[in-house]
Amino acid sequence: MYLTDYEEKMLDGEYGEWVSRAMKLIVKLGELAGAERLTPIRRAHLSGISYKTAGDAAIQLLEDMANDNVRVKAFTTLNPAGIDLLSWKEMGIPEEFVVKQKRLVDAYVRLGAKPTLTCAPYFFENVPERNEVVAFAESSAIIFVNSVIGARTNRHGSLDALAAAIVGRVALTGLLLDENRRANILVKVHDEAFRENDFGLLGLHIGGVLKPTDIPAFVFQKNPSINELRLLGAALAASGALAMFHVIGVTPEAKNQSMAFGGETPEDVLIVDKRDIIATREKYFGEINEPDAAFIGCPHASLEEIRYIASLLKGRKIKEDVKFWIFTSRHVLNALKQETAYQTIIKAGGRIFADTCMVVAPIEFLGVKKILTNSSKAAWYIPRFSGGEIFVDVRSLNEIINIITI
Ligand code: F3S
Repeated sequence: MYLTDYEEKMLDGEYGEWVSRAMKLIVKLGELAGAERLTPIRRAHLSGISYKTAGDAAIQLLEDMANDNVRVKAFTTLNPAGIDLLSWKEMGIPEEFVVKQKRLVDAYVRLGAKPTLTCAPYFFENVPERNEVVAFAESSAIIFVNSVIGARTNRHGSLDALAAAIVGRVALTGLLLDENRRANILVKVHDEAFRENDFGLLGLHIGGVLKPTDIPAFVFQKNPSINELRLLGAALAASGALAMFHVIGVTPEAKNQSMAFGGETPEDVLIVDKRDIIATREKYFGEINEPDAAFIGCPHASLEEIRYIASLLKGRKIKEDVKFWIFTSRHVLNALKQETAYQTIIKAGGRIFADTCMVVAPIEFLGVKKILTNSSKAAWYIPRFSGGEIFVDVRSLNEIINIITI
């Protein structure tokens, strides 16, 4: 692989042992992918921030790096941690977990990362431009910035995204190149009867039948909202590890079908309607009508989504034995506190937490067993991350509010 003089020096250890190790990882991964050179990045977003998924070895590694004065070169933000840093007591998280979690976040901060602790940094905290090359590691953010913003990132894991942030470089390969961003599968969706949670179920369904390297181009009858696109993308990335999709006439690289497919004919055409959505829900999830919790905000809820929830909750009370928790970014939560929507949700008995989410928080300590959510990604991962004893059902926001309120 061709390297500039500066990159050679980083590789050879002139800037220290950790920079050299990071460079070796980036070069090795690039060579495996057939890249001819590296390209600079100004932004990175790191995953694996929860102590629940990172563990003690990660704390040790990050503290060692910080003690050796390693610093990220790229502007670097962090995915959700396992706790709300300010309201963890209210969540009921054990103190031993909190201590480890704070050490982990502190180590990242000493490396120069911003403790944004959200999986939706593309709204406010870390917003890539169209065509900008970045190193994002959070599958829902990867697919959102590639597909909806038109920025460029490959699927990074927590370690190689950190390495990329340290050296400010990624290998020029995969989805960074025009020719690898074109759709190959056309998906025609009869979405007349769709509600917002159906977009996530659609993502699980399509992710389950495609390969991770496939790029579907969807044709909808009405344009999906940004939130519906987020639910769709997060679920495509969950069941299928997909990193990009197009929506013809909506997303920036798919103004029309010819543009989405680079002038080529689709390799396959899939037709989906509400029956496939119902079958997907039945295949993966059981029906829950008496939940002990309802969790919203995967990916982290936007202001619009929370305002809509508040409008549904007006004049209603959440049942005493149900935890109704919304997860969002600190930025959104602070903005929300200025609005009546915040008081409406709190008065109804709901809670809004920042910095964490229902998947990476240690919810196995909370004693909840039957959970409703509008997110197929959350429903996919909660049982896998929190032990098989927890059951999840995917419903629309309207249905959830009707079930959990009196
Ligand atoms: Fe975000 Fe947690 Fe879902 S990190 S995408 S809310 S699993």
